[in-house]
Order: sequence, then C-alpha cells, then structure tokens
Amino acid sequence: MALREILKFGEDALRKKCREVTNFDDRLAQLLDDLTETLIASDGVGLAAPQVGILRRVCVVNVRDERGTIELVNPQIIETSGSQTGNEGCLSLPDEFYPVERPNKVTVKAFDRHGNEFTVTGKELAARAFCHEIDHLDGILFTDHVENKVPVREDRL
Ligand code: CO
Repeated sequence: MALREILKFGEDALRKKCREVTNFDDRLAQLLDDLTETLIASDGVGLAAPQVGILRRVCVVNVRDERGTIELVNPQIIETSGSQTGNEGCLSLPDEFYPVERPNKVTVKAFDRHGNEFTVTGKELAARAFCHEIDHLDGILFTDHVENKVPVREDRL
C-alpha cells in the first residue's frame, strides 16, 4: 500500500470522464488499497480514482460506520429518494465547504475488486458521499451543484 498525491481543483484529470474497469486484476486491487490508505490518512469520507490521476471508474467511501471502507468499481446510482442539504467539501479543494442538495437515500450498483456485482444503500452522509464520488468519475465537482457561491480564485476554477 502507498499514499498517493491528491490532485487539487484546476488539474485537468478532475474534469475527465473516466473509463470503465474491465480487468479485475492486481493493479485494481493496488489502486483500491492505495485509495483507502490515502482516504483514511486524509481524514476524508470518500476518494475517487481521478483525484489521484487515474481515469478509471473506481472510488472508495468510508463514513466511519460498521461497513468500513466501501469499494465501488464501475458504480451506477440505480435509486434515490428524499433530499438533504448540507455543507459539502472535497479533498481536492481543502478548507472550502458549500451547501449542496443531494438525495437522502441512494442505492448504488457496483462491482467489487473481484468483479462480483453488488448493491449498497446509503443514507445521509453515505448517500452524499456516493453521489459526490460517482460525480467525480464523470468530471463533475461538487461546486458545480452550488449556486450563489462566493467566487473562488481563478486559479482554482
Ligand atoms: Co471530492
């Protein structure tokens, strides 16, 4: 396992649409291990592969509950319900938080590191994290959902 550098807003990789994983191999396992280690070391709740410069549809979520780290490969949101609005941040934009509306409950279909399909449901923070991380795989950043935000510095757009 190894810590990876987290790219900051402004890096091209954060705006790319990521490709699906087709090989469930040792490189994928290494990426997932590294994402989890980097996430926990950064005290975050979610981290997506493009944030470490890997343009693959892979992300991890850990809301410090009994489920531990949830590894999502080729995730798709298949059901949502309700709504919540709360301050949201991103490890790629340190120390900036804006209110974002998200569904309150989200069900995701994904594959595990071995290529087995599963579904997982999250509420509240977990639902928010699933939406935020899956957005990253399409080059969407949480600030894209924010209206009336205080302008950020041009070099961070
Ligand atoms: Co983020």
